[in-house]
Amino acid sequence: MTDVVHEPRALREACDQLRASDARVGLVPTMGALHDGHLSLVAATREAGATRVVVSVFVNPTQFGEGEDFDKYPRTLEQDVELCRERGVDLVYAPPVDGMYPEGFETHVEVERTTARFEGAHRPTHFRGVTTVVTKLFNAVGPCVAAFGRKDYQQWRVLWRMARDLDMPVEVLGCPIVREPDGLAMSSRNRYLDAGERQRATAIVQGLRAADAAYRDGEREVARLEALARAPVQADFDRIDYIAVVGAESLEPCTGTAGDDVVVLCAAHLGQTRLIDNARLGRDRL
Ligand code: PAJ
Repeated sequence: MTDVVHEPRALREACDQLRASDARVGLVPTMGALHDGHLSLVAATREAGATRVVVSVFVNPTQFGEGEDFDKYPRTLEQDVELCRERGVDLVYAPPVDGMYPEGFETHVEVERTTARFEGAHRPTHFRGVTTVVTKLFNAVGPCVAAFGRKDYQQWRVLWRMARDLDMPVEVLGCPIVREPDGLAMSSRNRYLDAGERQRATAIVQGLRAADAAYRDGEREVARLEALARAPVQADFDRIDYIAVVGAESLEPCTGTAGDDVVVLCAAHLGQTRLIDNARLGRDRL
């Protein structure tokens, strides 16, 4: 049975009880509107040893910037709980906004270097919102294995760094991107796309595939790899925020020649919708 819990103290008690009876707790933080990408993370926590799984569903206002899609972000809690039930999730944690951020809230967690570029540069308050809410989720759950998607590659690196730097009792996993049959990375935001935009949206994965194919053929020139990733996006999207080849661990931009563990990061706008995607060259299945 899937229990739905709304308060951090109730969640912590439930998780403490599970651990007391030797369960290993898995945590999958989400903003809901669950799809197979989210649900793959439930399986990933189990593969990493979790015997009980918590999914949190919370559309976190503090990680949305001015003019972003907080108000229109899909909220489908009933459906989400049903999907969790089908996957044998033990607990859904769905706190209200004023429970998460009670009157007088003034404490934040910030990761510095890893947030400086890319998403952090284009969405200046975003990662502070993410790291703060995920710290609160980690505290409400307690020691656990927490799964994040590499869809949000930088977010995963930021949260991995945070857990390590602050000695959090959490194992942070980074899990493969789940894609639609035509390659588009699954995202709650894909439902904003109209039919024409949905077709054009595959330009990102086409660019990633082109860069990946060249890399596998031995191409290491960063400018060339970036140009290959950029061309289809430039043709089909309305605006590109960034396309960059970076070190897979450091997220430092590569210049000149790409090393043997690099990621192409991409963010671009299609109409009102902003999409992100990435690929570890020569490693990911695209
Ligand atoms: P959300 O966008 O709902 O994503 C929740 C988790 O699902 C993230 O770890 C994300 O990377 C992962 N995910 C999304 N689409 C995926 C896909 N196609 N394949 C694999 N994993 C995918 O990311 C957030 O929420 C929030 O920032 C959160 C971490 C919950 C903090 O509020």
